[in-house]
Amino acid sequence: MSTITLISGSTMGSSEYVAEHMAEILENHGFSTEVLHGPSLDDLRLGGLWLVVTSTHGAGDLPENLQPLADTIAQEQPDLSNVTFGSVGIGSSEYDIFCGAIKSFEHLLKDRGAKRIGDRLEIDIQKYEIPEDPAEDWVKEWAKLL
Ligand SMILES: Cc1cc2nc3c(=O)[nH]c(=O)nc-3n(C[C@H](O)[C@H](O)[C@H](O)COP(=O)(O)O)c2cc1C
Repeated sequence: MSTITLISGSTMGSSEYVAEHMAEILENHGFSTEVLHGPSLDDLRLGGLWLVVTSTHGAGDLPENLQPLADTIAQEQPDLSNVTFGSVGIGSSEYDIFCGAIKSFEHLLKDRGAKRIGDRLEIDIQKYEIPEDPAEDWVKEWAKLL
């Protein structure tokens, strides 16, 4: 079975913890995983299965550690047609553009030919004190689609 690459975008660490927690659950379900926090394009294999987990900052913006990857994809336009991915956003419904970062990152991946597996999870920290809880439920269902 190929490795699932979890890609996190985070400022204060919440999304990193969520990514690591989901990786642990996937490992317990027999998948192999690697977790990359704010990777560059060179760190990634341009194929296989990715699971993107990112919070939103500014006004609907990507966290600073994921913005460079988004910029590189936009500039270099790599072929991502061999990539399938899952999508998890973390944000707060207090803000006008709720979970904007994961939506724009997804748009970028799809634009390069990547295909999403399953529905996007959007975790509202106003609703869930511990974002790992909804992430855990979601990833167990997502794993069934793989
Ligand atoms: C300055 C600031 C701006 C934010 N802007 C947004 C936003 O536009 N949309 C949103 O859904 N959440 C927004 N959030 C909420 C964060 O996404 C949320 O706190 C998240 O848990 C942070 O996760 P992280 O530690 O992985 O970065 C913002 C938070 C801060 C502190």
